[in-house]
Amino acid sequence: MRRKICLLLSLLLCLLLFGCAKEPAPEAKQPSVVVGFSQLGAESSWRIANTESMEKASKEAGFGLMMENANQKQEKQIDAIRSFIAYQVDVIVFSPIVENGWDNVLNEAKKAGIPVILMDRMIETPDESLYASYVGADFYAEGKKAGEYLIRKADALGVDHLNIAEICGTKDSTPMRDRKAGFMDAIAGDSRFTVIASVDGDFLRSKGEECALDLLNRFGKDGIDVIYSHNDSMTLGVLDILEQKGIQPGKDILLITVDGEKEAVDALKNGKINCVVQCTPKLGPAAMALVKSLTSGQKVSKVTHPEEGVFTDFDDLTDPSVEGF
Ligand code: AHR
Repeated sequence: MRRKICLLLSLLLCLLLFGCAKEPAPEAKQPSVVVGFSQLGAESSWRIANTESMEKASKEAGFGLMMENANQKQEKQIDAIRSFIAYQVDVIVFSPIVENGWDNVLNEAKKAGIPVILMDRMIETPDESLYASYVGADFYAEGKKAGEYLIRKADALGVDHLNIAEICGTKDSTPMRDRKAGFMDAIAGDSRFTVIASVDGDFLRSKGEECALDLLNRFGKDGIDVIYSHNDSMTLGVLDILEQKGIQPGKDILLITVDGEKEAVDALKNGKINCVVQCTPKLGPAAMALVKSLTSGQKVSKVTHPEEGVFTDFDDLTDPSVEGF
């Protein structure tokens, strides 16, 4: 009996010593390319879809992605870029919240020999060698499409005057500047249009609501014929307020928007929005293709714009190609 107990105890000891020892972990495979990605925030559905597109595309390409979200703060983006330089990533991709103020940090990246891709938004700089490539929308063309739609709509309605309120995206960002410029250029010289107000909505749905309340207070329902806002999030905020006030969006007040998220395209189909200019957030595959070219020493184009269209209440909205992201 004592021998049996001794045997059992030695077996237990063996199990404890060897049985529980962990299998040596297989060495984690290091990705050959590491991308430092500074995303500017999470202000809209567009931005969230853009982040997802970058994550998915980097995974599919087999690249490591170090992502930092700057929560709408330029200083945080600058810090993130500096940390990518310290880490010696292979390529930096970033979506600049505003156009100015990047030269110093991008010079640091240049000195460290790290190529930079601007994704979604542009920068303003006298030195174009600070970035290798830009991939993103032609925001000026988007603004023009919005203005051209309005001209067509005014023709179809046969009206001789329309009061327009503009709700702008983040001040000094490329989409804000260029969507405004494209729209204003398109309607310039047409005496049927008066822009009664341009307000800042920062691309946020909550601010879209605030702007709608402010505009209605200042001009009243009958003083506004059209609201052109620079993105869907703000437009959807406006739409909520109009409905709460018993004003019919898309009829009493025409709504023109940019992006093309599902909720906005559905509202277009339901007659609550009149025009949706497309801006795709799915820039990940094009950005990763640029990373691949740059890390394999190939030349890349300085600018790449995705193909984008426009959906309006003149279209056959039952067509399956009319869909949001
Ligand atoms: O830079 C692209 C813009 O930023 C999108 O239109 C908007 O929704 C986002 O926040």
